Amino acid sequence: MSTLRVISRSPVARRALSVSAASRKSNTPGVPPQKILDEYDEHRVERTPEAASMGDHTFKQPKSLPPGDVGHDVLRDVGRHSKRTLSSFSVEGKVCVVTGAARGLGNMMARTLVESGATQLAILDLNAQDAQKAADELIAWFVAEGEAEDGEVDAVGLGCDVSDEASVQRAFQQLKERFGRVDILVTAADIVENFPAGEYPTERVKKLLDINVMGTWFCAREAAKLMPDGGSQVLIGSMSGSIVNVPQPQTPYNFSKAAVRQMARSLAVEWAQQRIRVNCISPGYMLTALTKAILDKDPVLRDTWVSKIPQGRMGDPSDLKGAVVYLASDASKYTTGSELVVDGGYTCL
Ligand SMILES: NC(=O)c1ccc[n+]([C@@H]2O[C@H](COP(=O)([O-])OP(=O)(O)OC[C@H]3O[C@@H](n4cnc5c(N)ncnc54)[C@H](O)[C@@H]3O)[C@@H](O)[C@H]2O)c1
Repeated sequence: MSTLRVISRSPVARRALSVSAASRKSNTPGVPPQKILDEYDEHRVERTPEAASMGDHTFKQPKSLPPGDVGHDVLRDVGRHSKRTLSSFSVEGKVCVVTGAARGLGNMMARTLVESGATQLAILDLNAQDAQKAADELIAWFVAEGEAEDGEVDAVGLGCDVSDEASVQRAFQQLKERFGRVDILVTAADIVENFPAGEYPTERVKKLLDINVMGTWFCAREAAKLMPDGGSQVLIGSMSGSIVNVPQPQTPYNFSKAAVRQMARSLAVEWAQQRIRVNCISPGYMLTALTKAILDKDPVLRDTWVSKIPQGRMGDPSDLKGAVVYLASDASKYTTGSELVVDGGYTCL
């Protein structure tokens, strides 16, 4: 029976299949072998491989956001300890560092850590002014909306190019002087670009790897030095580390995220005895202000993405809140080297 189960796309192979199947005896009394083959054939549909065509779907990330827009909805699913939950989920008293947190998912995760009790926080991002502005806005938001007292939240923004080893070392030296240690690191700084592989300028591939892979590496290593009593590192990967996004061509981004995932596993083992846990969050397609700007211009791209998500929608940044708090806090104290996929089921397919 095995030949009958083969779904062959090649007409030559299919002809060969017909011949071999037709010469077989039918197991169903009274039904000729050719008839059985035809029934299977109905499902051997040849489709135009739309999903694999990538060329026309390159897009550029918008460079900046409108003033006052941090790239996610700051009012979605927020609330300060107003409901009972496990105390182990609290990050009260922990010194937190989030990279790439001037906007987008990093900004949302920084705010989530404060929502979950943190009062000492550093935002690291490429531009010092943007980082400090994000820290100031976060403090102002928690005083105005989050029942924080004036001076209760100590948040600082530091300029740091994560791809530059010296810049990362300087930033962590500043953190050491200010807070004395780090308990929680979340690495969200990265870039994504798309070019067909044959046209991807090598310098840009190297730059992407310097930011996404080496940047994560430098930050993880420097943070570990400030975790003498242990700590938790949450490296932000992507489902792109294990699936191939379509239709946009982004091979280097995808293999950079596979590297982040494996970095988390390897560091988890190396640092387990130092009580430093290292885990990875792999988000699926998240509807940040930047992805929204891209999809507003390209509904075909949106429909292609959404049609492949079992839950039938893009993720909201707030869908990642539980994941980051779980992995950052003591609630996950026996979890290390794991990947928490938050993708609406995309990677199950
Ligand atoms: N948005 C999504 O759908 C999605 C899906 C899967 C994974 N992710 C991951 O989540 C993380 C955040 O994504 P986002 O959508 O919020 O992106 P974003 O572009 O909005 O934010 C990235 C931040 O990183 C900063 N950054 C870039 N290069 C830097 C450098 N060299 N040094 C320091 N900071 C730098 C940027 O200034 C920006 O603030 C990334 O790791 C991304 O791969 C995002």
